[in-house]
Amino acid sequence: MSSVHQALTWVFLIGIRFCHGITLDISSRESICAATDIIQNDIMDYYWGSEYGGVVGMFVYPYYWWEAGLVFGGMLENWYLCDNTKYEQLLHDCLIAQSGTNYDFIPSNQSLTEGNDDQGIWGLFVMDVVERNFPDATEEGVPGWLAMIQAVYNTMWLRWDTEHCGGGLRWQIFAYNIGYDYKNSIANGCLFLIAARLGRYTGQQEYLDTAEKVFQWLVDINFFQFNDPILIMDGAHVTNNCTALKGPQWSYNHGIILAGCAVMYNVTGSEVWRERVDKILQSAKYFFFFQDVMYESACQGSKIGCNNDQRAFKSVLSRMLALTSVLAPFTRDQIMPLLQASATSAAASCAGGPSGSYCGLDWHRAEFDGIYGLGEQISALDVIQSLLIHTKPAPHTANEGGSSKGDPEAGKNYTTSSSVLVFEDAPIIEQNERIIAASITAGVLGMILGTGIWMMF
Ligand SMILES: *[C@@H]1O[C@H](CO)[C@@H](O)[C@H](O)[C@H]1NC(C)=O
Ligand SMILES: *[C@@H]1O[C@H](CO)[C@@H](O)[C@H](O)[C@H]1NC(C)=O
Ligand SMILES: *[C@@H]1O[C@H](CO)[C@@H](O)[C@H](O)[C@H]1NC(C)=O
Ligand SMILES: *[C@@H]1O[C@H](CO)[C@@H](O)[C@H](O)[C@H]1NC(C)=O
Repeated sequence: MSSVHQALTWVFLIGIRFCHGITLDISSRESICAATDIIQNDIMDYYWGSEYGGVVGMFVYPYYWWEAGLVFGGMLENWYLCDNTKYEQLLHDCLIAQSGTNYDFIPSNQSLTEGNDDQGIWGLFVMDVVERNFPDATEEGVPGWLAMIQAVYNTMWLRWDTEHCGGGLRWQIFAYNIGYDYKNSIANGCLFLIAARLGRYTGQQEYLDTAEKVFQWLVDINFFQFNDPILIMDGAHVTNNCTALKGPQWSYNHGIILAGCAVMYNVTGSEVWRERVDKILQSAKYFFFFQDVMYESACQGSKIGCNNDQRAFKSVLSRMLALTSVLAPFTRDQIMPLLQASATSAAASCAGGPSGSYCGLDWHRAEFDGIYGLGEQISALDVIQSLLIHTKPAPHTANEGGSSKGDPEAGKNYTTSSSVLVFEDAPIIEQNERIIAASITAGVLGMILGTGIWMMF
């Protein structure tokens, strides 16, 4: 390349990076994959795992562990939908680094913050890895991804707690964490969806029975309410036997449970599941879309605003709507226009921040609103790439193209019991109501630790 040519190329690249933001033609695969490539480049600004002193499989402060599972799950979808191998090795390394010594995604580093929902979100990433037939690890002694998601499932299911509220998972895994006395929709929703997908993938009835049972419990305890629109409550404390329901409507709760019902519909073909899918889809439209463009209604535009976790929820809803449109084909004509309108507006919001292409929180403005972070990036990535969901085969099953090696017994012998304190010197935290409301991880302790680590840098 001549130096003039080189200089021009640089001017061009810098121009793209600093002036234009992202352009998106929703009818062009090339344009969708180019846009999502830029978004992932910007995601990498938050990832120091490839550098000295960085942690493989974690994003920088203040992003919690669960969000890493969510973001890598989105990048895995991009690997599949755009045939993008750029991050294949990175995804592989992150999975192994965060799987923990027992390959059940309870890494010892996270035991001060990890809840059932956090393990569940990583579990959904691993389930995706299996269904997309991401190559199994070849390292000595590392089990197949299918065995790992079976370990996630088994450890979660062994924590099913019938002592309070007639069943359900608690929010937290460890008794010393804030929120151990709380049961919520997201933790149980993740178990429901993982069980349903394992049932579909393996053809084993046992998983589908669990999914039925978890869903029925959500109904019995009124976390899931057949109103018009359907309400999915955040959760309730075990102290009142889960009778004092809390929290606003969050898009990730609707998304995860919608997708679980879609999987159950796909496997059973039953009218009952079909009706559930249809009703949750209507409620999701009612709560989280305005003029066909998605928003997190409980916090976007509110005085307090959305916290770091909540800013990523639109990615969950986008990914789950896309999956639903594949597994419950009758929803496709309703879902795709919502994703198209949202993707167009989301792309228009990707026009600011340090690179000039960081995405914003408020997609209705169709321009950058000045709020940016990992949550905005992953939400835009998911909604934009979801437009390609029907260009590729449906999630594989063991009988149709899936090849990961499984182990139905994985995790059963080394389950992390919720009543066991794994670290003798772990602090016992007084439970604090205010902190629990509708946040996904044990916030304060994580923040204190995080700030400490931050200050050390
Ligand atoms: C666990 O934390 C330590 C200290 O921050 C870090 O060096 C290590 O890479 C972390 N491991 C994982 C798997 O996150
Ligand atoms: C707690 O709730 C469960 C499920 O609704 C119910 O079966 C059980 O009897 C309740 N226990 C008490 C003590 O009220
Ligand atoms: C299940 O999903 C597949 C893949 O999209 C689809 O072909 C099939 O019709 C679905 N089953 C039902 C009952 O809708
Ligand atoms: C638990 O079982 C797995 C096989 O499912 C085995 O590889 C592992 O060594 C066992 N671990 C313990 C602690 O017994």
